[in-house]
Amino acid sequence: MTPELFPRAVACGKVILVGEHSVVHGQPALAAGLPDALVLEATRLPDRGAPATLSIPAWDLDCSLVPAADHPVVRAALEVLAHCDGPLTGVAIRGHASIPAQAGLGSSAALTVALARLVLGPDADPAEVVAASLVGERVFHGNPSGVDSEVAARGGVLRFVRGATPVPIPLARPLRILLVPSGVARQTAVQVAKVQDNLDRWPMLARPMIAALGAAAEQAQLALESGDLESLGEIMNVSHHLLAGLGVSSWVLDELCAVARDAGALGAKLTGAGGGGCMLALPPADPGPLVDAFRRRGLVPLVVEVHAP
Ligand code: MEV
Repeated sequence: MTPELFPRAVACGKVILVGEHSVVHGQPALAAGLPDALVLEATRLPDRGAPATLSIPAWDLDCSLVPAADHPVVRAALEVLAHCDGPLTGVAIRGHASIPAQAGLGSSAALTVALARLVLGPDADPAEVVAASLVGERVFHGNPSGVDSEVAARGGVLRFVRGATPVPIPLARPLRILLVPSGVARQTAVQVAKVQDNLDRWPMLARPMIAALGAAAEQAQLALESGDLESLGEIMNVSHHLLAGLGVSSWVLDELCAVARDAGALGAKLTGAGGGGCMLALPPADPGPLVDAFRRRGLVPLVVEVHAP
């Protein structure tokens, strides 16, 4: 008998506050979930033998899950469904996304987590959901640290170290952040490979930068726990410059950070893999002037409040 899917599944998006890239190399990272970033709904197709379909209009995605297809989304989706012993035919999956795809906000992890939950159910053990998500994430990103999948599955603010169970971070108060999409798409695997290449070519320089990014995550955790936003902002600025030194920023991201700092942000950095994607800023108490500075440039900033789990 064909296995059934649950009718609905939800996953978070993610923002890496501090520690992207260094997390791939064993350093801690702090990441926050963006609630309800992706909702998937499954319905039966009249023909139970027809290939499953997956459509997410907000991501311009509309595909049949045909095993021979050479599309990373198709391959990843099939791998996740197969890993969970879910149906590969006879179902239509439709998604409603509130985050953009390929913008450094964890869209692929949200997709793979939500797909896993369609099979495993809303109350499935997060560790099981993450393991299934990682099967798909490896199709997209090669050798991901797992931070995106953990945050997509668990939400809240997490301290993550590769290979260890993530630890929820208590927040002194909810954290308000501002995200500005650069409009430049990029591939995480390419960005991760850039850092590896630099580590291979000049390890004496790149290794201390990776360690410094890990130290920045440690310091940022203390700042978050005590509600010291000024220090958090400074740590974000330092992190951006370290990431730029490792080659994963771009002139667009550097400029967005400069605009944010000039308009009163307490700190600004790239978030996620870099190269494009989003800029993350820590707004002052009144985020109005910061938001206006980006709107005047025709950009659409997103103000998000991040809560503890
Ligand atoms: C991507 O969101 C975060 C990176 O650190 C890659 C990873 O952790 O797998 C760049």
